[in-house]
Amino acid sequence: VHPSLRRELEAVVGADHVLTDPGLRATYETDWTRRWRGSALAVVRPGSTDEVAAVLRLLNEARVPVVPQGGNTGMVGGSVPRGGEVVLSLTRLREMEPVDEAGEVTVGAGATLTAVQEHVRPLGWDVGVDLGARDSATIGGMVASNAGGIRVVRNGTMRAQVRGLEAVLADGTILRRLPGMLKDNTGLHLPSLLAGSEGTLAVITRVRLALVPTLARAVVALAGIGSIGDAAALASRLRRRLPTLVAAEAFTAEGLDLVVHHAGLAAPFSVRHPAYLLVECAGAADPLPELADALEAEAAGMLADVAVGEDEATRRRLWLLRERLTESISGAGIPHKLDVGVPVARVGELAERAPQVVAEVAPGAWVVLYGHVLDGNLHINVLGLDPEDEAADDAVLRLAISLGGTISAEHGVGVAKTRWLEADRGAADVAAMRAVKRALDPRGILNPGVLLPPE
Ligand code: FAD
Ligand code: MLT
Ligand code: ZN
Repeated sequence: VHPSLRRELEAVVGADHVLTDPGLRATYETDWTRRWRGSALAVVRPGSTDEVAAVLRLLNEARVPVVPQGGNTGMVGGSVPRGGEVVLSLTRLREMEPVDEAGEVTVGAGATLTAVQEHVRPLGWDVGVDLGARDSATIGGMVASNAGGIRVVRNGTMRAQVRGLEAVLADGTILRRLPGMLKDNTGLHLPSLLAGSEGTLAVITRVRLALVPTLARAVVALAGIGSIGDAAALASRLRRRLPTLVAAEAFTAEGLDLVVHHAGLAAPFSVRHPAYLLVECAGAADPLPELADALEAEAAGMLADVAVGEDEATRRRLWLLRERLTESISGAGIPHKLDVGVPVARVGELAERAPQVVAEVAPGAWVVLYGHVLDGNLHINVLGLDPEDEAADDAVLRLAISLGGTISAEHGVGVAKTRWLEADRGAADVAAMRAVKRALDPRGILNPGVLLPPE
């Protein structure tokens, strides 16, 4: 970064928070999957909204591109530099206000999900979105990527949790609407616009979250089942019977093998099943009787083995078999992570055909898939490929579109999928998104190369 710009940035955030030394920059320059990396001019760590605004004003005037970064747990390369940008790390914006009586709380964009959970749970409230990266993922990053996670069937994605927000435009203008009102019908809803914008429209600095009540009693069941398609079909039937259903996740035998091997967890059953379905029910009263009834009515002959967790420790142990898939796959190599979605009725077809289309274009690769089955969302992880080899990615994304689905159900587009955006959304949608981008960031400094393909 030019010495005079560096001095100006240091005057805003303090010299300790402008990192130019390569050793200090390194963790900000590589993403969680290790597939995406690039070198930054500097890493700048503002400590307040006013500092964010002042930094953006300087960078916009100098036409220096900016990569906003939260916990850097994103999976599509949008949180790390491609080369020559300033990384704007938001993790110092982590103050949390008290929870109000209506169950809303305003938190800094850099607060981690775990920190917010710990802040609100003792008061009987919870955050509606939960995900395995909770210790590092930030609320701002979760809004910017419209994160999904393991409660979507119950509470929706991150977009649905955001009641208001504060954000800074590329030129330093601060937008602030933190209303504390369920009904606020005064025109365009900025949280909806920024949810899923992946750092390309504004930098989110504070978020007002609408919380959900804590559910006192929970039960988790893990079952061996014949296929991912069977798991999706059964989960759909259970959903109709179970108002208490809060999660439905599926994974395959290959995934469980990896977790047992890499995370050192014990296999749940003595027999290896082709696939596994994990469901959680929760409510004010014990949900086990209704789950047991529903399984008996809907799953006759389908389930080979069932493990049930009622106490917290057993529930956690069953959940870890699912949650630790991500790190176990990364322990086996650098995966290509394809987070596709299809209508729930086609999940089985997607699960069967994805490994076939990968084998056709990349015979040496192997596929591990799992996902949020009731969201129609499978994570197709392809191992054994060069990071630059896109043939398997293209085959899977084409398959998802041909099944009436989407190239990204929850991780976003990032840099990984820009060239597929128009095939998914169509030219008119992409043009509309470009028009919004141009209006809010006319110099194009916010996360260039992310989300929108080059013109
Ligand atoms: P980052 O990775 O830092 O950034 C993500 C994007 O948001 C980037 O484009 C970045 O530029 C932008 N951004 C970040 N902060 C801001 C801000 N304040 N203002 C504007 N733009 C910003 N994702 C799911 O959806 N569901 C899951 O179940 C899930 N599970 C995961 C499990 C593991 C183990 C891991 C490692 C990741 C998982 N993820 C999941 C992906 C990831 O955690 C989410 O996408 C999360 O929302 C990213 O938050 P972050 O703070 O790490 O954002
Ligand atoms: C998950 O559901 O585990 C996450 O989205 C991360 C991943 O795809 O591995
Ligand atoms: Zn996921």
